[in-house]
Amino acid sequence: MEKTVHLQNIVQPLLSWYDENKRDLPWRRDVTGYRVWVSEIMLQQTRVEAVKPYYERFLEELPTIEALANAPEDKLLKLWEGLGYYSRVRNMQKAAKVIVNELGGVMPDTFEGLKKLPGIGEYTAGAIASIAFGRQVPLVDGNVLRVISRIVESYEDIAKASLKKEMAEELSAIVPADRPGDFNQSLMELGATVCLPNGMPLCGACPVKNLCLANEKGVIDRIPQKSPKAKRKVEAITVLVLQDADGRIGIRKRGRGGLLSGMWEFPNLLGHLTGEEAEAKLTELGLNPKRMVRLSGHKHIFTHVEWHMQGYFFEVDGLGPNGLVWVLPHELMAHYALPSAFGPYKSIL
Ligand code: ADE
Repeated sequence: MEKTVHLQNIVQPLLSWYDENKRDLPWRRDVTGYRVWVSEIMLQQTRVEAVKPYYERFLEELPTIEALANAPEDKLLKLWEGLGYYSRVRNMQKAAKVIVNELGGVMPDTFEGLKKLPGIGEYTAGAIASIAFGRQVPLVDGNVLRVISRIVESYEDIAKASLKKEMAEELSAIVPADRPGDFNQSLMELGATVCLPNGMPLCGACPVKNLCLANEKGVIDRIPQKSPKAKRKVEAITVLVLQDADGRIGIRKRGRGGLLSGMWEFPNLLGHLTGEEAEAKLTELGLNPKRMVRLSGHKHIFTHVEWHMQGYFFEVDGLGPNGLVWVLPHELMAHYALPSAFGPYKSIL
């Protein structure tokens, strides 16, 4: 109860601050359900600056929900190449198909209606409903968890799932009926630009510093509390960049399900092979390896796995196993979605 009363006071200062200080972002212009949806899905695991160019291109190529529903998968993955978490865009397409085929092409405009769609959870439904459709629903993401924890001086573990729900309940009492989307965005914006994590908050620039208990008590750097994540599994991988006598590069499509499902990749083997071992493997596969160049090692970090990669470039003159597709470097760049993990090996071409 105490907390709710305290929080009520942040609404007006935050809205005024937001009006003056909000960033000019592409999805804040010409606000529609579809545009907000695309932006919120892209922003889920990706920084604003990284999202911007993807966002513009995605909307140019797929300007409507119907265009998204009908896009070929390879085009979809290519538009998402480098953003990671590719199931996000696959689910978006599934939802677009539901909207086109079952809902007469009209996106639901309520929290409940949106939440029924594939890939749209609590957060995304709240974001679209409040920002695009003016629904009075709260929104809790990582930024909001940090901002509110500091304001109310909460030492609860923000990695705990139940905290999100509790905070959403507290916030639902103060989301203003006339500007729910702006209020929700003001909290996220404050977290992204002022109430920064890792002991770097810019409290001097904060519109609610006088209402913030963590600031008042000098405990900002102790909040939020967050339990450490489980350790990632490490996988050693040997990447093989194969080029045939016509300059074509051998790539293959990853299987369905699992990490990077359905994406293209350079052939690779588990373990760190020596050059001789890699060469022997290629000979065994009928690829007839010629010149070899050892490539530098790279690490790539996924949510639950780390790839520790090393690589070899080989000139070959056999076609090798059936699963390999041979494409010219410019075709690879233009048409095949290769995950960022392979970026350092693609950049040698
Ligand atoms: N992070 C994700 N969505 C956002 C939004 N709409 N405004 C500010 N930060 C965000």
